[in-house]
Amino acid sequence: MKAYQIVDKGIDALKQVNVQPEDLKAGQVRVKMHAASLNYRDIMAVKGDYGELETPVIPCSDGAGEIVELGKDVKNWKVGDRVCPIFFQGWTDGALGNAAAKTALGGHMDGVLREEGVFNANGVVKIPDYLSYEEAACLPCAALTAWHALVVSGGIKSGDKVLMLGSGGVSIFALQIAKMHGCETIITSSDDDKLEKTKKLGADHVINYKKNPDWDKQVMEITKGKGVDHVIEVGGPHTMPKSVNSVSYGGHVAVIGLLAGKDSDFNPLSLLYKVVKLQGIYVGSRAMFEDMNTAFTVNEIRPQIDKVFTFDEAKEALKYQEAGKHFGKVVIKI
Ligand SMILES: NC(=O)c1ccc[n+]([C@@H]2O[C@H](COP(=O)([O-])OP(=O)(O)OC[C@H]3O[C@@H](n4cnc5c(N)ncnc54)[C@H](OP(=O)(O)O)[C@@H]3O)[C@@H](O)[C@H]2O)c1
Repeated sequence: MKAYQIVDKGIDALKQVNVQPEDLKAGQVRVKMHAASLNYRDIMAVKGDYGELETPVIPCSDGAGEIVELGKDVKNWKVGDRVCPIFFQGWTDGALGNAAAKTALGGHMDGVLREEGVFNANGVVKIPDYLSYEEAACLPCAALTAWHALVVSGGIKSGDKVLMLGSGGVSIFALQIAKMHGCETIITSSDDDKLEKTKKLGADHVINYKKNPDWDKQVMEITKGKGVDHVIEVGGPHTMPKSVNSVSYGGHVAVIGLLAGKDSDFNPLSLLYKVVKLQGIYVGSRAMFEDMNTAFTVNEIRPQIDKVFTFDEAKEALKYQEAGKHFGKVVIKI
């Protein structure tokens, strides 16, 4: 079976190898992978910037495929079922705990950039019928993180104002989820063409954060001095002060990423004065994934795929994502 392995730091060090298929144990399913999608985290992992990984390890958390073999005692699946492995193989429901936090695909455990994989029967979810494998491969991390942030943590409701930073995978899903809930949306990007694309997805207000470095002031103007109810904070400590400036009294900032770097002189007292709810988000559970799939199916939410690469072009795909040229998701067909 062909797979990619992280053996050393750097995209060029990623190695395509032939590995023995794993044994199938009771309670497990064998999945033939058809597609994987990339997340910023995968770039960090491949470049050796994602903590200490035990190598060799197969990268990428997000994939979609088809069950080709059932282990003993597996009753809830059949051969041919279309499934996505879940990001945290051990997080099925409730709150994330110590043990489950160490079961992330493409980090603690082998990921999905391979021709087939063995997963626990409760470590996969059914793919909605209307989605292709390429589209479904975008859901496990990026979409679920946005869903967890806005729906589970934020409890969004129609009429809420939502701010998304940048036009990467998580932010574009957040835009789609916010529109699906009847929210007023503001999104930023460094690229005017990308901002035009966000308008086609329903963005109500757009801001070029390169041309307008004080984008928080623009958010305040748009919201007539009130601020937004939710911020999808993917920038990190460096953008956090402006995200907090942009949020309303009692508003909610979902702390998700670090696209703008790790350093900052952010003062947490600003949260106190505005009674801001700051909530860390780490992807989501299987139960959240299933709820999201139900809502996506009813609303026919389609992941925004920028470009599809072949399996042999995986390094080019990672470099394309690293360059930030994409809008939404970058996919690898397997
Ligand atoms: N906590 C979690 O569970 C979780 C889950 C998924 C992702 N994440 C994190 O969330 C972040 C986003 O992940 P992703 O996979 O969606 O990333 P991505 O698709 O690679 O996003 C890339 C885009 O981010 C935007 N960007 C870059 N620097 C920015 C800045 N200073 N301000 C605003 N936007 C900026 C750019 O958009 P424009 O080209 O439009 O400017 C760029 O194209 C990453 O830090 C990732 O590690 C966390």
